[in-house]
Amino acid sequence: MELSEPHGASHRGSRAQAQATVTLTTTSIERASASGIDTLQRLPQFPIPGVLLARLAIDCRVQGQGVGRYLLRESVGLTLDLMSIGTVAFRVLVTDAIDEAAARFYEHHGFARLHAEAPCRLVLDLEPLVR
Ligand SMILES: CC(C)(COP(=O)(O)OP(=O)(O)OC[C@H]1O[C@@H](n2cnc3c(N)ncnc32)[C@H](O)[C@@H]1OP(=O)(O)O)[C@@H](O)C(=O)NCCC(=O)NCCS
Repeated sequence: MELSEPHGASHRGSRAQAQATVTLTTTSIERASASGIDTLQRLPQFPIPGVLLARLAIDCRVQGQGVGRYLLRESVGLTLDLMSIGTVAFRVLVTDAIDEAAARFYEHHGFARLHAEAPCRLVLDLEPLVR
């Protein structure tokens, strides 16, 4: 699967097909902006490479059924696979939550808010997940 392709899940139980999508692309965050995240503080003062979790959205009709968790875990797994190949370095998974409820969803799954000026930008340090 290509990182740039939107990945989705669908549910045909309702009359109209419900949709859930996520798109992954590359990004980086300024090292200075990550000063609130302990494990990133030790890194040198260079941009930190990452994968941007863009447009993770779950149709209202299927929210609360584990679809968001599934797509998030798939996204983390794909990114860890890429890291294990070693051709391109990534350290963080980054997302811009659409609202406060979505931000709390990411926090529930281990993401940390990057800084107070951008409370909906959240980051997951992937290094502890590398096997
Ligand atoms: C945030 C979002 C991705 C969550 O997806 P979801 O499929 O409803 O969430 P899931 O059912 O997979 O939730 C799984 C886990 O996350 C937790 N969770 C879900 N929403 C949460 C929230 N707002 N805050 C904290 N935890 C949350 C659940 O309690 C569950 O926890 P568990 O794994 O410990 O049991 C989804 O609501 C979303 O896309 N929101 C923004 C866009 C939007 O609202 N679009 C509407 C289109 S109609």
